[in-house]
Amino acid sequence: MLTIALSKGRIYEDTLPLLADAGIVPADDPDKSRKLILETNQPDVRLLIVRATDVPTYVDYGAADLGVAGRDVLLEYGSEGFYEPLDLNIARCRMMTAGRVGVPFPGRRLRVATKYVGIAQRYFAGQGVQAEIIKLYGSMELAPLVGLADCIVDLVDTGNTLKANGLEPRDLIMDISSRLIVNKAAMKMKHEAVKALVGQLASAVERRA
Ligand code: ADP
Ligand code: PRP
Ligand code: MG
Repeated sequence: MLTIALSKGRIYEDTLPLLADAGIVPADDPDKSRKLILETNQPDVRLLIVRATDVPTYVDYGAADLGVAGRDVLLEYGSEGFYEPLDLNIARCRMMTAGRVGVPFPGRRLRVATKYVGIAQRYFAGQGVQAEIIKLYGSMELAPLVGLADCIVDLVDTGNTLKANGLEPRDLIMDISSRLIVNKAAMKMKHEAVKALVGQLASAVERRA
C-alpha cells in the first residue's frame, strides 16, 4: 500500500493530472465528498486529504509514504525527516516582501507581519536588516494598512491580492513550487513501488515542461 498526502485546492488540482499520467485516478472528488481518505483505481494506492501545512507532518511520521507540499511549507516545517526527490513544478509563485504603495520601508528596525516566520527571519538576517517578526495566520495584507507592520512577507502570483489592498511587491525572497516528499523508511521498505511512482511522476513533469 502507498499512501500519498495532498491538500485540497490548487495542489490537489495540479497533482491530479500528474497522478493520472502515472495511472492513478482517485475514486472520489475531495470537493464533493467529505471523505479524508480517497481510494483510487489502484487498490494499493490511497490519498489522504490534509491541510497544506500538515503534509510534512504526515510524511515525517510515516502516516503517509509520500506527499506534495510547497517549498514555503517545507522550509517553515524545517525537518530533515524526509527526502525531496522531485520538483513537480506546480503551484508556482514567489515569496516576496510587500509594503504600502509609494511608502518606503523605514530606516529603523522593520516590523514584518507574516505567517512565514522562519523564512522571514532568515531573509532579513541575511540582508543585515534588523526586523521584528509578527506572526499572523492569514490576511497579512491588512497589517501595513492599520499600522501593525511596515511590511509583509507573503506569496505573490498575479499580484492582484496586494494590489486590491493598496500594497506593492518589493523584494523577491525566493521562487516557490510544490515538491514531492518521501518518508525515509518508506523509501527503504517500499523501494520498488516508490521508485516506480517517482519515475512516472518525473516523466509526467518532464512532458509538461
Ligand atoms: P492554504 O490553504 O494553506 O493557503 P493553498 O492551496 O492556498 O493552501 O496553498 C498551497 C501551496 O500552494 C502553498 O504552500 C504555496 O506553495 C502554493 N501557493 C499558494 N498561493 C499560491 C498562488 N496564489 N499561486 C500559486 N501557488 C500558490
Ligand atoms: C494566496 C496567497 C496570496 C495570494 C497571492 O492566497 O496567500 O494571498 O494567493 O496570489 P495573487 O498574487 O495571484 O493575488 P490564496 O488564494 O491561497 O487564499 P488563502 O488566503 O485561502 O490562502
Ligand atoms: Mg492559500
